[in-house]
Amino acid sequence: MTNLSLPSSGFGTFRLKGDQAYKATQDALDVGFRHIDTAQIYENEDKVGQAIQDSDIPRDEIFLTTKVWFDNFKKEKFIDSVQDSLDHLKVSSVDLLLIHWPSPENEVPMTEYLEQLARCKQEGFTKNIGVSNFTKGHIDKAIEILGERQILTNQIEVHPLFNNHELVQYCQKQNILITAYMPLAVGKVMENKVLKELAEQKNTSPASIALAWLNMKLMISIPSSTNKAHMADNLAAKNIVLTDAEIARIDNIDHQDRIVDPDFAPKWD
Ligand SMILES: NC(=O)c1ccc[n+]([C@@H]2O[C@H](COP(=O)([O-])OP(=O)(O)OC[C@H]3O[C@@H](n4cnc5c(N)ncnc54)[C@H](OP(=O)(O)O)[C@@H]3O)[C@@H](O)[C@H]2O)c1
Repeated sequence: MTNLSLPSSGFGTFRLKGDQAYKATQDALDVGFRHIDTAQIYENEDKVGQAIQDSDIPRDEIFLTTKVWFDNFKKEKFIDSVQDSLDHLKVSSVDLLLIHWPSPENEVPMTEYLEQLARCKQEGFTKNIGVSNFTKGHIDKAIEILGERQILTNQIEVHPLFNNHELVQYCQKQNILITAYMPLAVGKVMENKVLKELAEQKNTSPASIALAWLNMKLMISIPSSTNKAHMADNLAAKNIVLTDAEIARIDNIDHQDRIVDPDFAPKWD
């Protein structure tokens, strides 16, 4: 399964604020990333957008994603919040608009916010729509509401220390691409024994092995970094080939080490 509508390597911008967000986005574009991931809640859309604008890279060569925060899910707020995102990003549309988390405790019914999401696509605010942190149950319901083949991706936590195998398989079977967030487990992959061994054998880093593993399993990854050399390595990782045996070794690492589990998270299934 190859899907050119979502580039396999993206640059994540969570935690990057102010000048750091501007510089990191600029560096990421400079080393060759053409897929940038931000969100309303990251409070950096303006800096990310400025870096994109100042880069002089044609807009249609950059795949830009943002995510709608659940405070904006109500019908009266959704579209206005997306318009604000576009203004901050200084673009007329994004390439992908995601629901960042399902509404906590179903406070806003899924039908209400997914209808608004679909409307954003119809009105040309985004080319594609998708979801994030959706469980299997949420995915079923979302397909019921939006129809088949409308959800481009489910952006979820996946890395070698938490392979999220069942949900990954479930989505991929329904042609929903997986975007793996926190693909480096916020740096924890660097300490893993198996990844370190494989990295030594291949003369690379555990981070690159983690990203290559995701790529070989047909997942998109969106690593973040403030270090330009790391960014270049992260982008190049998609060229690393792993054997079936090496992939199996990494599959077997899984420590169920979920990192992102806020109190508003759904009951994971
Ligand atoms: N949808 C969601 O709910 C959700 C949740 C979390 C994250 N995300 C997305 O996923 C993106 C990635 O997650 P994340 O930023 O939390 O974590 P991450 O990408 O797993 O890890 C980032 C950390 O890894 C280090 N790092 C990066 N490249 C490295 C390399 N080649 N060698 C060694 N260390 C390296 C970075 O340090 P340096 O700066 O020193 O390189 C940074 O501390 C976010 O930016 C965001 O866009 C989405």
